[in-house]
Amino acid sequence: MRKKIVAGNWKMNLDSREAHLLFEELNNYPSFEGVNLIIAPPSIYLDSFSKHKQNIHLAAQNVSAHLNGAYTGQISSSMLSAMNLNYCIVGHSERRIYNNESNEQIFQKAKSLLDHNIQPILCCGELLEDREAGDAFKVVEQQLSLELTKFTKQQMSNVIVAYEPVWAIGTGVTASSDDAQQMHQFIRTLISTHFDNQLANEISILYGGSCKPDNAKELFSQNDIDGGLIGGASLKFDSFISIAKSF
Ligand code: PGA
Repeated sequence: MRKKIVAGNWKMNLDSREAHLLFEELNNYPSFEGVNLIIAPPSIYLDSFSKHKQNIHLAAQNVSAHLNGAYTGQISSSMLSAMNLNYCIVGHSERRIYNNESNEQIFQKAKSLLDHNIQPILCCGELLEDREAGDAFKVVEQQLSLELTKFTKQQMSNVIVAYEPVWAIGTGVTASSDDAQQMHQFIRTLISTHFDNQLANEISILYGGSCKPDNAKELFSQNDIDGGLIGGASLKFDSFISIAKSF
């Protein structure tokens, strides 16, 4: 049985009071049978949350590919690991686009996380122009190719993949459940080809991009969709919990 996961990417939202209130509500909510609830708050809140976490898991939104040193503004995998963090998002399209992160850098970040026992939530997803040109599958395969060819089976088994078509992020336009399922199945087949069927069937693949309470059930009912990476709808307790109940 694959892990079902609902992860909230708060991005650069919520002031300290709002963030602590939402954390408290989620943290006090009885844990879900079979669903891993994760939040990725701005890094400035991670230390405080990690000291109080009970029912909620924590993820960072980003990490440096370097171990330590003169990298102003960066946070290392060992710092995250010292806070007992279990997850970190890497390769989010906003970082690929605004920070010019390359597939190589994203691979190095994922590797550094795995070296510190943190599970990368590895994002991939095509631009609208890629999809319109019929290149969506090719782009996603390229984005994942370093992990698929360079990680050992053991390393890959600790990766969570998140398929997030860029044109669906924050736009209110969701991929149809058929399109999302097709891509998730494609990703699972890639994993099976590069490793084996057993691993492909064990890895959780999340959908992200305007996932909301009213479309989560339909998305999560697809064979290869194991949950969601949620942006906007993770900023409110009710909508986030309602998505987490959509399996
Ligand atoms: P969204 O963001 O749910 O607001 O579209 C998803 C994401 O960027 O992870």
